[in-house]
Amino acid sequence: METQSVGFHKAGLPGAVNFPLTMAPMVGLSHCAFRQLVREYLPLGATTLWPSEMLNSRRLPEEKLHKIPEAMVFENENYWMPQILANEEEKIRLSLPKLYDHGAQGIDINMGCPVQKALKHNYGVSLMGDAQYAARVVEMTVKYATGPVSVKLRAVDSEAKSGWRDFVKGLESAGATWLCLHPRTADQKRRGQADWSQIRELTETVNIPVIGNGDIQTPTDILNMLNETHCDMVMAGRVLTARPWLFWQLGEDLGWPSPERHKGRAPRTPTEEGIEYGRSLFRLLELMEGILPERLALRKFVFHIKTGSVWLPFGHELYRKMTAAKTFSAARKVLETFFAHSHQMYQKTELRQ
Ligand SMILES: Cc1cc2nc3c(=O)[nH]c(=O)nc-3n(C[C@H](O)[C@H](O)[C@H](O)COP(=O)(O)O)c2cc1C
Repeated sequence: METQSVGFHKAGLPGAVNFPLTMAPMVGLSHCAFRQLVREYLPLGATTLWPSEMLNSRRLPEEKLHKIPEAMVFENENYWMPQILANEEEKIRLSLPKLYDHGAQGIDINMGCPVQKALKHNYGVSLMGDAQYAARVVEMTVKYATGPVSVKLRAVDSEAKSGWRDFVKGLESAGATWLCLHPRTADQKRRGQADWSQIRELTETVNIPVIGNGDIQTPTDILNMLNETHCDMVMAGRVLTARPWLFWQLGEDLGWPSPERHKGRAPRTPTEEGIEYGRSLFRLLELMEGILPERLALRKFVFHIKTGSVWLPFGHELYRKMTAAKTFSAARKVLETFFAHSHQMYQKTELRQ
């Protein structure tokens, strides 16, 4: 299958990546079981990039990657792009070979994390406050990389706007292969609306590919972001915990065949989506059961439901009941009881968390 009518504007993404939608890195959510769930909805023949949850390069050198849930991978994973929090050359030098041995085909640098811990260590979004040092971090990473190096950024507030062009051009000159922008400022965290016009500004400023991110909920949102911002790819985060078949829906709209595992038409109506949501949760639980200890798996499963159930009128009930499930079989029972009734999924919801 060739790249479809939505083509990439700028060269730089790995050649075999041919689908314009990718998943966002999300702590506690984008583990390998969730990636596998979403991958099963990818149209046949489509290839995209897959993130890890953010990994701390201060700890990576000592860690056994196959033992930490954040870095676990399945054997069939293609284009796994682990995301690192990094700012020290020595830690980067030691971390990268481990990540490549573990299956990485590229490295993403986090320059958007606004949590206190990241600020204290001067990485994450604090790198956006020091353009020269941020470019150095890209250079250090490129030096030890054997594949693409991308950077995930946030928007800057109006006071910092004057230096922003030099900042992003600096990342490009330092060797970033592409940039991804979540256009909310650090203060906004995930509140308010993402300002897509800043994605457009970024695509007009750099000559490397840009991935746009923020507030995607439907296939129409994806096409709108591609058209309005001229970004090369769209990244979706929270919605995938509710609608992992977004990949299938978009593929269908672009003329791709259905996924290998799911034949026929993608779910579209509120009732079809409500049914598929239940199926996807059973499948995710099954995938988690195969790789994670019960307590940890259930904690992550509850967080997944907390994030995604806002697309369902009675989603809070499902979340509340699931918090009481202490075993896999109890969790399955909660799903069976809840999905014994039909549920209508919202196409869009207010994104608050
Ligand atoms: C629970 C959660 C954890 C997140 N963790 C990360 C992270 O580790 N690295 C990162 O770059 N962004 C992280 N993000 C931000 C997302 O990657 C994304 O930029 C944001 O959710 C906006 O996209 P969305 O509106 O499609 O959800 C996280 C978001 C959520 C909801």
